[in-house]
Amino acid sequence: MEPKRLETTIGNLRLRSPLLTASGTSGSADELASLGNCAAIAKTLGAFVTKGVTLAPRQGNPEPRIIETRAGILNSIGLQNKGSDRFLKEDMPKLRQYGLPIIVNISANTVEEYGALAARILEGAPDVAGLEINVSCPNIKHGGVSFGIDPVAIERIVRAVKKKSGDTVIITKLTPNITDITVAARAAIAGGTDALSMINTLRGVAIDIRAQKPYFANVSAGLSGPAVKPVGLCMVWDCFAKTPECRSRKVPIIGIGGISTWQDVVEYLLAGASAVQVGTAWFVYPDVFVGMKKGLEKYLEKNKTTVRKLIGKAHEEKNINGCK
Ligand SMILES: Cc1cc2nc3c(=O)[nH]c(=O)nc-3n(C[C@H](O)[C@H](O)[C@H](O)COP(=O)(O)O)c2cc1C
Repeated sequence: MEPKRLETTIGNLRLRSPLLTASGTSGSADELASLGNCAAIAKTLGAFVTKGVTLAPRQGNPEPRIIETRAGILNSIGLQNKGSDRFLKEDMPKLRQYGLPIIVNISANTVEEYGALAARILEGAPDVAGLEINVSCPNIKHGGVSFGIDPVAIERIVRAVKKKSGDTVIITKLTPNITDITVAARAAIAGGTDALSMINTLRGVAIDIRAQKPYFANVSAGLSGPAVKPVGLCMVWDCFAKTPECRSRKVPIIGIGGISTWQDVVEYLLAGASAVQVGTAWFVYPDVFVGMKKGLEKYLEKNKTTVRKLIGKAHEEKNINGCK
C-alpha cells in the first residue's frame, strides 16, 4: 500500500489520512486516552478535531442531554466545556502527545467574541493547525437566532477570526438547518475561509409520552448518526457542484454526517469532500476508524486510485448542478 494513497489537503495542511474526529464526539484529550487502543486509533487519523471550546467555561444544558433515535441520536449538550484557559493548560499538552495536527472547534456568542477566542487560542497554542468555526451558535445580540442561517453574520465571523489567525487554517462548519447551504458557503468564502465543513446536527424533537412533555428542556435538539447521512451527502454535493471555489478545491470541503463505514467515506469523497469527520459512529464502535482505514485502503488499492483522485469524481458523469 502506497502511504500517499490516503493523503489529502485542507488549506495549507497536508493530512496523511482523510479521517478526522468530529467535534464534540471525541472529547478533547481524556476521552481519547480512555480508549485502550488510543495509539492505534490515532495512527488512522489525519487530524484531531476537539470538542467545542468557548472563551469562558460553560455548564451546558440541564439533563437529559442525549436520547437514541431509530437511526441516530438527538443531543442537547449545550457546548459544555471548561473554557479556553483550562483547555489550553490541561488539554493541549495531552493532545500534543498523539503527534496529530490539532484542529480546535470554536463557538461564541458575538462576532467580536469569535475573534477574541481565536486570538486567545493561537496565543496560547501557536502550534494549533486549524480552527473550525462552529456557526451554529445563537447570536445573543440578535435575539438568539443562529449565526449559521445569517450570511452577513457568517461573513463577519469568518473575517474576524481570519484577522487573528495568520497562517492557521480556518474551517467554517455549516449548519444544515438552512434552505440553501450554498448561500452560507458563499458567505464563508467571502469572509476568507480556507475550507468548509458540513454538516452540523439537524434540528429534531423527542416527546416523553409518560410525562407528556418534550424530552429535552430546550425542546429541540440536534440529530446525528446514520439518519442524517443522505442529508450531509446532498449538502456536500450541492456545495461542490454550485460553488466554483469548492469545485476547484481552492476551498475544500470536509464531509460530516452519519459516516459509519468505509463505504460512507468513499461516497462523501465522490460527492466532493476532501476529508471526512466521524462522530456518532464512535459511540457505537470505538474501533470505527481502524476498520474504516483498512476498508478504504483496500478499495483504493483495488481501484488503483487515491483519495485525491476520488474527490468529486461522481460529478464527472453527471450534468446536474445540485440535488434535485
Ligand atoms: C454529543 C455531540 C456533541 C457535539 N458537539 C459539537 C460541538 O461542540 N461543536 C460542533 O461544531 N459540533 C458538535 N457536534 C456535531 C458533530 O461534530 C457532527 O457535526 C454531527 O454529529 C454529525 O456527524 P455524525 O452523524 O457523524 O455524528 C456534536 C455532536 C454530538 C452527537
